[in-house]
Amino acid sequence: MELVSERRALVVGNWKMNLDFVEAVHLTQQIGVLLRHNPVAHVDVALAPPFVDLRSVSSVVDSERIPVSLCAQHVNANEAGPHTGEISLSMLTRVGVTTFIVGHSERRTHYAMDDDTVARTLTHVVRAGQRGLLCVGEDLVVREASEYESFVATQLESALRPLSVAQRELVTVAYEPIWAIGTGRSATSEEVNLATAHLRRVLASLEMPTTRVLYGGSVNADNASELIHQGIDGFLVGGASLKAESFLAIIHAVDGCYAELR
Ligand code: 13P
Repeated sequence: MELVSERRALVVGNWKMNLDFVEAVHLTQQIGVLLRHNPVAHVDVALAPPFVDLRSVSSVVDSERIPVSLCAQHVNANEAGPHTGEISLSMLTRVGVTTFIVGHSERRTHYAMDDDTVARTLTHVVRAGQRGLLCVGEDLVVREASEYESFVATQLESALRPLSVAQRELVTVAYEPIWAIGTGRSATSEEVNLATAHLRRVLASLEMPTTRVLYGGSVNADNASELIHQGIDGFLVGGASLKAESFLAIIHAVDGCYAELR
């Protein structure tokens, strides 16, 4: 079992295309109540609601002083102009977003976000002084061909090399193997451990030895305690973040682990 890192943990709830603004407000309030009753000491928590929910969620977070930050699920690489259906970074920071997910596998796979667009988007985010949450991860074909290490290294290098070393400090990385997302089949502890060690080697070669590395893919209240011991700094949670109880159980599992090992 590896010791948890000196860094604070981070747990992000990615709501994907779920919950309208009324449901989003309700879930945020529930999360607020549970965090008030049972606060955490070692974990930063962030919520990534759909765009149209952000303003309402932001109001609730501010007025009820809920200790969570706001994350955008995606952002356009351009600041303004003819990009029908897209949202700009300044629009999102204006409603309180401080972290931007860049290159989620669902954007890469279904919306043609290639490595070049990922790099341009991440550059745009950190140039504005905002935080980026860069997602990388391989599909089953790559995994079964035992090529995931070079695949993920390429994803990391192409997104991070264009950034200055100072800009890289604004980046957190999430390892989300596509075969584990929404499938109920999380990576095993050993797979997370090996992949994280590999990501950290690549990050060290990019002068990013202290970057937070999250894991995402079928994380739930049952597997969080074991997975958090595998050298990671937290989780990017999809399905289990849509219910306050399961999301909080994950957050508390992480906090408990960090408290124990400090
Ligand atoms: P699930 O937790 O639903 O597998 O989703 C993971 C994910 O894609 C988070 O960004």
